[in-house]
Amino acid sequence: MNGMVNQRQKDKRLLKQVVTKADTFLSAIQINDKSSDLILANNLYNMPCEKGIELIKKAGIKVDCLITSPPYNVGIPYANYKDNKPYKDYINWLKELFKSCQDIMTVGGTVAINVGDGKNGSISTHSDIIQFMTRELDYVMVSTIIWSKNTTTSRRSWGSFKSPRCPSFPTPFEYILLFRYKDKYHEGGKEDITVTNKEFIDNSLAIWTIAPEKASKLNHPAPFPLNLPLRIIQQMTYRNDLVLDIFSGSGTTAIAAQMLDRRYIGFELSQEYHKIALNRLEKYSEAA
Ligand SMILES: C[S@@+](CC[C@H](N)C(=O)[O-])C[C@H]1O[C@@H](n2cnc3c(N)ncnc32)[C@H](O)[C@@H]1O
Repeated sequence: MNGMVNQRQKDKRLLKQVVTKADTFLSAIQINDKSSDLILANNLYNMPCEKGIELIKKAGIKVDCLITSPPYNVGIPYANYKDNKPYKDYINWLKELFKSCQDIMTVGGTVAINVGDGKNGSISTHSDIIQFMTRELDYVMVSTIIWSKNTTTSRRSWGSFKSPRCPSFPTPFEYILLFRYKDKYHEGGKEDITVTNKEFIDNSLAIWTIAPEKASKLNHPAPFPLNLPLRIIQQMTYRNDLVLDIFSGSGTTAIAAQMLDRRYIGFELSQEYHKIALNRLEKYSEAA
């Protein structure tokens, strides 16, 4: 019995060494190889974004467009993440993340944050994000786009029904907070613009009506619809730009980037969602 335990411990130690070596090897390639941009781009990584951002920084890679939807701190049962931090800690966590993203953004590049407010709009998460992005960090506001879901959410939370005591106001919409990194424009070649006239005109109105994605269809509790990153990428990037999603979930941003001939990188904490994203990406590239 003891022999078996010892063997198991040895195996565990060996596995740990192999994993650590692989990790060091990966970082070493990314840091030393001048073509590390090529090595990293067009990959989804199953790792915390804190680590991913650090690796991109070490490799000296610059991101043209960051599209992401963080957990909203509303108690969604994610596989590996507890979505109920004390609110102050939650906002500080996001602030630190977007602060570290400043080291990897192209000057003039776009940051698009999709977020919804908590508790029927009474926790104004989107305005706290705008506050730290524009007052404490170096991002410049481009627009607050309203994503209208064109659905009436199940009308059960009335607050106080038919009474002025404390009526509530459910929100069948979310926000896409659009920023530029520093006060510069994103220059590029005319031949690399892919947006059509009609798309450009439609997208430039700051209310987008897009049906939500079904969580049950993707086995992820909070995916955003493919049309959301597609529209941001078309409007804000050139062909071959690098698009990053630091909370890549079921891989929607990567799929949109791939469809529009942009490069992508994604980081996701949960192995389960990471696998779902890889499968989706493969299906979309087979269909193309
Ligand atoms: C709102 S979901 C993103 C959904 C994604 N936009 C999609 O379409 O599938 C947020 C994701 O962040 C992941 N997550 C939470 N903390 C993370 C971290 N530190 N690094 C990377 N991913 C994290 C969660 O597991 C979850 O999948």
